[in-house]
Amino acid sequence: MKKSFGVMPNGEPAYLYRITNGTLTAEVTDCGAALVRLFVPDRDGGLADVVLGYDNAGQYVAADTYFGATVGRNANRIGGAAFPLNGKAYPLDPNDNERNNLHSGFFPYKNRLWQVVWHEEDSICLRLDSPDGDQGFPGNAQIRVTYTLDSTNALCIAYDAVCDKDTIFNMTNHSYFNLAGHHRPEEAMKQVLTAPARFFVVTDPEAIPTGELREVAGTPMDFRLPKALDQDINEDYKALRILGGYDHCYEVFTAPCAILSHPESGRTMAVYTDCRGFQLYCGNFLENEPGKDGMVYPHRSGVCLETEFYPDSVHHPDWPQPVTKAGIPYHSETRYQFH
Ligand code: BGC
Repeated sequence: MKKSFGVMPNGEPAYLYRITNGTLTAEVTDCGAALVRLFVPDRDGGLADVVLGYDNAGQYVAADTYFGATVGRNANRIGGAAFPLNGKAYPLDPNDNERNNLHSGFFPYKNRLWQVVWHEEDSICLRLDSPDGDQGFPGNAQIRVTYTLDSTNALCIAYDAVCDKDTIFNMTNHSYFNLAGHHRPEEAMKQVLTAPARFFVVTDPEAIPTGELREVAGTPMDFRLPKALDQDINEDYKALRILGGYDHCYEVFTAPCAILSHPESGRTMAVYTDCRGFQLYCGNFLENEPGKDGMVYPHRSGVCLETEFYPDSVHHPDWPQPVTKAGIPYHSETRYQFH
């Protein structure tokens, strides 16, 4: 199925594409290669759409929530909105707190029309060409993102890219999950998270890493045992206080790196990735955001588990680096497996 999804700012039409494996059904738009809907059965087979979203391309472009968006070339923040590569400084847009870079800049990939490479029953591949100097990043990059609903009931999102200069690739998907269904915001923080991560990335109040990787043990950041998202989110703990709740990167330790569940419905999602970290973000900046199907999403009505390199890793050479050499293929994938 392909249906009209409004227009891009330049008037070009955007479309919505449906894929299914018979159990799960997803809808993806070529506006930003964003995941718009994801229908998942509960323990009795009842379907709910478990991601937050909008009704048309115009809303996706206008919003800064990044609902379901494909983020690149660099997901998350870069302090001082510049990075060094091969002895040269590359300035980026200071689009966060007027001095840092968030999700790559003022003209994010979510606001661009991607080309559909193929659309089959259970998968869709979209492509974006990003020219040399795009948002400050070096090299002409060809980027593909492929969504597949596989036979293990996983939504697999694969990122492939190649560039003619050394560059940064650190792609992610920015879906906000509510396994109760996006229409039940009061349940979002009742979702239970289990994450084996032993440490998280400490940041300053602008969410820029200080360089400290801190053990979660003995802190409200600890999810090694299953814990409802709202259990400790309002604790008087500096890392939570300065960012208004969970908005932190965790190490990816064992697989799956995170398991999210909603006890009442029985929906469970395990996240598998080849990334080294994931950002746990609880929608702390959402405030009555008008969304799809007449929904208005209140504060903390979804949770993001953004698989990626540690934020600002370009300034921490001892951390895994998001640099991809000229001509060398970049590949990364994350599977969200449902039970
Ligand atoms: C960041 C949040 C930000 C959100 C929307 C997340 O990846 O961690 O701080 O508000 O994206 O841009």
